[in-house]
Amino acid sequence: MNRVPREGTNLRKSVDEITRSRRLRRMRKADWSRRLVRESHLTVDDLIWPIFLCEGTNQRERIAAMPGVERFSVDTAVREAERAAKLGIPAIATFPYIDVVLRNDEGSGILDPENLINRATRAIKTAVPEIGVITDAALDPFTSHAHDGILRNGIIVNDETVTTIAEAAVLQAAAGSDIIAPSDMMDGRIGAIREALDHNGFHDVAIMAYATKFASAYYGPYREAIGTAGRLKGDKKTYYIDPANTDEAIREAEQDIAEGADSLMVKPGLPYLDIVLRLKDTFAMPTFAYQVSGEYAMIKAAGAQGWIDEERVAMETLLAFKRAGCDGILTYFAPVVAERLRAAR
Ligand code: PBG
Repeated sequence: MNRVPREGTNLRKSVDEITRSRRLRRMRKADWSRRLVRESHLTVDDLIWPIFLCEGTNQRERIAAMPGVERFSVDTAVREAERAAKLGIPAIATFPYIDVVLRNDEGSGILDPENLINRATRAIKTAVPEIGVITDAALDPFTSHAHDGILRNGIIVNDETVTTIAEAAVLQAAAGSDIIAPSDMMDGRIGAIREALDHNGFHDVAIMAYATKFASAYYGPYREAIGTAGRLKGDKKTYYIDPANTDEAIREAEQDIAEGADSLMVKPGLPYLDIVLRLKDTFAMPTFAYQVSGEYAMIKAAGAQGWIDEERVAMETLLAFKRAGCDGILTYFAPVVAERLRAAR
């Protein structure tokens, strides 16, 4: 039913009566007052920089779907790690593009002590010992079918994969990795890695559990970056979490903590902030989120079109992670943001 519009601008009550003089705009009126009441802050200490590795020397290879992101050869990665350390970035996370000829059904290249990941870790920790190095113990860069596990008769076999991952984690620790972050979502991997690390004397090497990794479409550009695009047979739904589920994410995290995880990660990031909030509230663990390749690519693409202000949107998303309770964020924006934060000081 249409209501007759009220005559003129006269309200029956004044705004002061309506709000009982509570006016939230008071503290928004100036930069100084906004700064005074600001709850969340992004600092360089919140940033983890994921980088891609490739073979060769003095290499920097562009990745079409991730403008501004490159693959680095080991020597270039060392120089980039130095730059990151100078900017104050606490840690980097490495992901390798493995030569296709070195990939096979079992992903056995992950067990080579001299593989690209381990060579990079050794070189970076020798040249820049002050930066934290986080390595992924997942098989996907090394498998011909691009799955995170060993594929037998159309099934990703859990226990055999876990054995390989635990062994790979020990090799990564021996190369100098500070944190093992397995991104595969096999059952029992955290406990197996902890046991293998301790058994080999790596009591100080930590585990960041990709506790809640979802079967997401946001990983697309990453697969170009490590050369697995188009190679994946089927999908990863039998091991990653269904994007519809949140209680299951809680149970995954609970299990990983019980098995010895030192910190938790949520992946992808921004579309899953509800999970971050629940995990932080429930477990009070160090909690991280991964702003994944698709999130990065969307911001870059819309920015390049002039449809959004890329810089402001990137900063706002990172602040949103902090507001949701993240202790840190893995982000491809890390070096750019670190420079920006430094300039703003
Ligand atoms: C796989 C892995 C993925 C990412 C890192 N390791 C996802 C996948 O390819 O299934 C995604 C990272 C990103 O999108 O930025 N173990």
